[in-house]
Amino acid sequence: MFDMTEKKLAEMRMLVKELNLHAHRYYVLDDPVMPDSEYDLLFRKLRDMEQELGSVMPDSPTVRIGAPPLEKFQKVQHAEPMLSLGNAFSHEELREFDRRVKRFLKSEDDITYTVEPKYDGLAIELSYRKGLLIMASTRGDGSLGENVTENIKTIMAVPLKLETDNPPESIDIRGEIYMDIEEFNNLNRRRETEGESLFANPRNAAAGAIRQLDSSITAKRRLHLACYGLGAHSGITFQTQTEFMQWLASVRCSVPSDLKVADGIAQVIEFVREIGEQRGGYSFEADGAVVKVNDIALQLRLGNKTREPRWAIAYKFAAHQGITRILRIEPSVGRLGTITPVADLEPVNIGGVTVSRSTLHNWDEITRKDIRVGDKVVVERAGDVIPHIISVVLEARTGGEEVFAPPVSCPVCGSSIEQEEGEVAFRCIGLDCSAQVKERVRHFSSRGAMNIEGLGEKNVDLLYEQGLVRHFADIYNLQFGDLLALPRFAEKSAAKLIQAIENSRHTTLSRFLFSLGILHVGEYSAKLLAANFSQLEDLYHISAESILEIKHIGEKIAGSVSRFFNDAGNIDTLVKLREKGMEFTNPDFENADRTGLSLAGKTFVITGTLPKARPEVEELIEDEGGRVAKSVSGKTYAVVAGEAPGSKLQKAEGLGVKVLTYDELLQLINGEKS
Ligand code: IVH
Repeated sequence: MFDMTEKKLAEMRMLVKELNLHAHRYYVLDDPVMPDSEYDLLFRKLRDMEQELGSVMPDSPTVRIGAPPLEKFQKVQHAEPMLSLGNAFSHEELREFDRRVKRFLKSEDDITYTVEPKYDGLAIELSYRKGLLIMASTRGDGSLGENVTENIKTIMAVPLKLETDNPPESIDIRGEIYMDIEEFNNLNRRRETEGESLFANPRNAAAGAIRQLDSSITAKRRLHLACYGLGAHSGITFQTQTEFMQWLASVRCSVPSDLKVADGIAQVIEFVREIGEQRGGYSFEADGAVVKVNDIALQLRLGNKTREPRWAIAYKFAAHQGITRILRIEPSVGRLGTITPVADLEPVNIGGVTVSRSTLHNWDEITRKDIRVGDKVVVERAGDVIPHIISVVLEARTGGEEVFAPPVSCPVCGSSIEQEEGEVAFRCIGLDCSAQVKERVRHFSSRGAMNIEGLGEKNVDLLYEQGLVRHFADIYNLQFGDLLALPRFAEKSAAKLIQAIENSRHTTLSRFLFSLGILHVGEYSAKLLAANFSQLEDLYHISAESILEIKHIGEKIAGSVSRFFNDAGNIDTLVKLREKGMEFTNPDFENADRTGLSLAGKTFVITGTLPKARPEVEELIEDEGGRVAKSVSGKTYAVVAGEAPGSKLQKAEGLGVKVLTYDELLQLINGEKS
């Protein structure tokens, strides 16, 4: 018996090792060798073994999925203060830095420096004892930070254990947590569809993710790590910064992508220029380059000023900014009716990209910055894609600029508009507003939703103008002949679109739920809903309370989902779509934690005499993940009725709740269609 457990523990250790190896290849080296499906399989195997043995290794990847939410962050004292960096804004200021270093060291010799990108993220300290991550903290005021260990553990690039047979007694490693530009843009796009406010830049998005009290939210944001600094340590020594960086990489801590070693300041300037030229191609936002004295003994001799070291400096690149003129401001109406002011700009080249439009977010922003049509403005590309207007060049005002008043009615359909309490946005309340309808159809067919290729902006506009598609459900009435009659379609393109529509009839429930464009329901909430309801019909007439029972779904989402599924018109549309052959698989439900349990999430009520004793039937249902309730309500999935049923049967029929015989219940459990 003892041997068996030992054997299993050894196997578990092997699994942890293997999974960590592959996570490192995937998240740090960007060079995966194991297919995702295999990783998932091994991960599940490990989780099952942990449950069976009641034991979890400290560096098990299962530790990363997030802990219960905190009330607040605890304060942590840094063993050595986390300093800031002085800035250099020109090559001359870099030379001045080099002269200061030499003067301080009383030396004429060329200094060896390291040069690397400066990541625009959030500084973090990772404390390892005997190789195990025991604490992660933010910089805070430099000496007192916040304990964000649970959040940091969810970041796959952060090793829970240093990969070495000979770990130092203790070491504090400093680095930057950051978000890729692509991830940042995806996140903002998602937030936009969900009606949430947008992050101004990747740094704010990363900081927001780390400062979450609920680590499961951090886990959803894909964050990265670049380690660059040494804090307090014992049981290990390093001669140079480069030696330290090599050691970091060897123990699986990710290090800056582009680390250069320069002999003398002339070469530093060359490298800084190179990084500046290459930064447009980086996957992350770099706002500068950091220059450090390579020799650690020299670093110690140079020491620190109050808030910054004498041995390092940040060379700041010019921000991605430009000056241009606002030609026009136009209100644009989104699929949820939100009216956003958008500025048409005189085209300007900013960091190699031509910018001609910029969102102004809302009218509060316009008023706060006093932005007027005709103004000269400073525009910045943050995180590279969505340009923002930073400020107005007031000195350039001629007096001819015009104030752009908030709308009094919808600029597209003329309906009334409202401003929700506590929100700055105006919303058009006209349900048939063509802008909203078109946006809803576009959202429905977009790549992350039903993925109907060929239903882009122009075709949706055309189909709408022709009266062929006035609702996303109309897509499924389109005929080959209808399309062929339109100016933008030939036989091939019409056939292609019809085929794409056909293909979309078979999709996953979560995709479909996302496509419906329910207020506040993004891809993630759609997945949560699908994981908790096996089929679409289970959501019909659902109460907000039932939705609230789902972990991670709050009142805002629960309310809007319930409103959506209690609207007779919506249910009618869904029923019609189902009748037209719309079918869903639901991997989210099948792969949810209670894998294999056929009645998970379903509530049953029993009435009448069944072939088996009542407690036995109850146990059967509960063993399959179901719940047994005493009385019938809207939450009831089905009533199991036997001989001589009571009033519960009538109540079920009155409420339209499914009625099953005992045999049908067994069929449901065995996965047969009833
Ligand atoms: S070294 C004592 N290297 O920039 C010097 N810092 O503006 C420690 N940063 O607080 C910093 N990338 O959060 C260093 N490659 C890099 C960096 C970097 C980003 C951040 C760091 C620091 C801030 C100073």
